[in-house]
Amino acid sequence: MFDELEKINHRPKPFEFYTTEELWTNEYTSQKMLEFHLNESIDVSSRNINFINHSAEWIRNRYKLDESKSVCDFGCGPGLYTTRFAETGAQVTGIDFSKRSIDYAEKTAAEKNLNIKYLNQNYLKFDTGERYDLITMIMCDYCALSPDQRKQMLKKFRKLLKPDGYILLDVYTLEAFNQREEQTIFQPNLLDGFWSPEKYYGFLNTIKYNEEKVILDKYTIIEKNKTSMIYNWLQYFSKSHLIAEFGVNGFKVENVFADVAGSNFNPKATEMAVAAIKQV
Ligand SMILES: C[S@@+](CC[C@H](N)C(=O)[O-])C[C@H]1O[C@@H](n2cnc3c(N)ncnc32)[C@H](O)[C@@H]1O
Repeated sequence: MFDELEKINHRPKPFEFYTTEELWTNEYTSQKMLEFHLNESIDVSSRNINFINHSAEWIRNRYKLDESKSVCDFGCGPGLYTTRFAETGAQVTGIDFSKRSIDYAEKTAAEKNLNIKYLNQNYLKFDTGERYDLITMIMCDYCALSPDQRKQMLKKFRKLLKPDGYILLDVYTLEAFNQREEQTIFQPNLLDGFWSPEKYYGFLNTIKYNEEKVILDKYTIIEKNKTSMIYNWLQYFSKSHLIAEFGVNGFKVENVFADVAGSNFNPKATEMAVAAIKQV
């Protein structure tokens, strides 16, 4: 028991393990995630529907989406943004490793008679000969990536964008980091049965890495016949860190907003969005 508790409370190096795929693609949790995406009144998995409508409208106007434009949405989930982009006539691609979400997105596209290309794969491994006018990555997915993975993604974005192509993505701020506390929670059926339909015991260890501005929510889920560990990492950014990271990777930041709906940057807000252009 002591050794098990040592493992549960072990503090890994920042971004030492990548288990994001397990969280989103597991047969059971992916269904829970889809329910969250489609719950129009909450900001879990996808944001609430009023925000998405407002944000998609702002993106369509800012990037003048029409038949002449192509967009690729990384981590598109069930297609709440891709559907709205495609309604402008733009050529739209959505990538997500959750088959459950992609199936839902494809069904919606068929019902609405929209020609959207959906790819069910890990975007870290994605490559194509196509080139896009705009790349989006919405709801702070960028924060779940390690510094190396982010570098790899920005390199990929540069390659996949046309000259003068744009990126729009959002991240968590240092204000959000400061609001987080280290904690350890132990609870039978932690998160109301989110992790399994069977009885389980769950630990949540929230670990703060003050120097790196990283938070780990480490879930240890103990079922009768197996124990799983899921590592949810988040990188938190200052405005200058974000601008510098895009700069060294070949992008010029045009604007930093408070969100992907174009609200004015607010230093006290917990999120911000970066609109950047590829530098040739
Ligand atoms: C927070 S949700 C946001 C969904 C969507 N952007 C929205 O705002 O409605 C993140 C999505 O990214 C997907 N995802 C995360 N990491 C991924 C990866 N490496 N490759 C492909 N999809 C990924 C998840 O499956 C999930 O659908």
